[in-house]
Amino acid sequence: MEIRFDDQVVLVTGGSRGIGEAVAAEFLASGARGVAITSRRAENLVATVERLGESDRVLPIEARADDPDAAASAIAAVIDRFGGCDILINNAGTNPSAGPLTDVDLGAIDKTWAVNQRGPLVWSREVWHQTMRESGGSIVNVSSVGGMQPGTALGAYNVSKAALIHLTRQLAFEMAPQVRVNAVAPSVVRTKLSAMLWDGMEDHTASLHPLKRIGEPSDVAVAVAFLASEAASWITGVVLPVDGGVTGASPVPGM
Ligand SMILES: NC(=O)c1ccc[n+]([C@@H]2O[C@H](COP(=O)([O-])OP(=O)(O)OC[C@H]3O[C@@H](n4cnc5c(N)ncnc54)[C@H](OP(=O)(O)O)[C@@H]3O)[C@@H](O)[C@H]2O)c1
Repeated sequence: MEIRFDDQVVLVTGGSRGIGEAVAAEFLASGARGVAITSRRAENLVATVERLGESDRVLPIEARADDPDAAASAIAAVIDRFGGCDILINNAGTNPSAGPLTDVDLGAIDKTWAVNQRGPLVWSREVWHQTMRESGGSIVNVSSVGGMQPGTALGAYNVSKAALIHLTRQLAFEMAPQVRVNAVAPSVVRTKLSAMLWDGMEDHTASLHPLKRIGEPSDVAVAVAFLASEAASWITGVVLPVDGGVTGASPVPGM
């Protein structure tokens, strides 16, 4: 079954680079009528629109992921420009500080949780009330394998991504049957956000994955597109690891 999004309108938060840009490119390549991308910085969006090369189908919107007013006006702008919003991808994420949860600065924790867990709730509620409750739709949240298993480097981030997984299930329950809500959980993907985990040490990071490479943004984009599409019309409330086998194909120690 070929996955197509003809006549569908998509909003991707954090679409100016990395996984979000790849997701936007995937929807455009699969025929989406309109793709809105958000970011904190207008100049970043200008460059992304140029790279995507489909300016008549792309709507760049400057909007912070943790700002409810920005979410409300961004979704209104998408509906105004394209006549609806069928798919929301909560992709924007941040990781302002590394380290164990026991030591991370509380301000950094507040920021991480505001963007990574409260943000997707804010955007999902807004799109629900503005259109999806009546018109239906699909939401995909970009979580992380760090939300499924603990780790040494990213304590606050991991907790935010675990909360996002439960948010996915809670909203999938509350929004059914009109709206399906699912999540992807990537491991290390080649982007700016995760550079500390692979830049200068890619062979080592790759070796920790059963499939022996790190992920590319396009690996995540195709999984997001599947979950958002009609091909997944009987799937809601699930978390799909996109992780080179880290969660599903790693052995139990010593067994
Ligand atoms: N890369 C990985 O290994 C990996 C693994 C698991 C999960 N993820 C998740 O994948 C998602 C995308 O990350 P990425 O790796 O593609 O990172 P990235 O390359 O740094 O891109 C992050 C995107 O989010 C935007 N953004 C950041 N903070 C924002 C905010 N407060 N408000 C609005 N937009 C904001 C950035 O745009 P501006 O800077 O222009 O605002 C950019 O478009 C995140 O949720 C991340 O947690 C990534």
